[in-house]
Amino acid sequence: MSAEQAHDGSAEVAARVERRWATIAVAIIVMMALLAAFAGIHRATMPQPRVEIIDPSRIHLSGEFVESNLGSVLEASGNVTVRAIGQQYSFTPACILVPADTPITLRATSADVVHGILIQGTNVNTMLVPGYISEQLMRFTKTGDYLMPCQEFCSFGHEGMWGKVKVIDKTDFANRAKAGGRLSCVGQ
Ligand code: CUA
Repeated sequence: MSAEQAHDGSAEVAARVERRWATIAVAIIVMMALLAAFAGIHRATMPQPRVEIIDPSRIHLSGEFVESNLGSVLEASGNVTVRAIGQQYSFTPACILVPADTPITLRATSADVVHGILIQGTNVNTMLVPGYISEQLMRFTKTGDYLMPCQEFCSFGHEGMWGKVKVIDKTDFANRAKAGGRLSCVGQ
């Protein structure tokens, strides 16, 4: 074998090795692009990770959102949990009673179509989607009445769908809570 022949041979080997590595590099890029596309589509088509679901046709019959469990409850931790539902065209309870200066967890859902809860003058603003439980943390520093309109168009009665949040003194609330049960503005 002459020196020239040996040179041609090694050039061929180099070209083949280069092609092989180029193929591997392209394959890796294609694989990563497919993975990214899959992850993106999967994420877009799946519900949010911490989602809680509920059967809207059965919320009145059993479980967390039966009528006797709606309203505000003072938990052993000192926090308050409020459970409410929205339906065409009202909220239950229509007037939510909560204490001031207390961490409050609002848990709500819809019995029919998409509604929204917005508490005026606060950053509380969440959608109520049938089939899902919406949870939002809130805290009021001032006592008083806050308007709570439905903020998602839910058909022709939408404009008339209003609720209210009544924030009362913390000790006052604790006294009322002693009787047990669920609190709302009823009897105020
Ligand atoms: Cu309910 Cu708009």
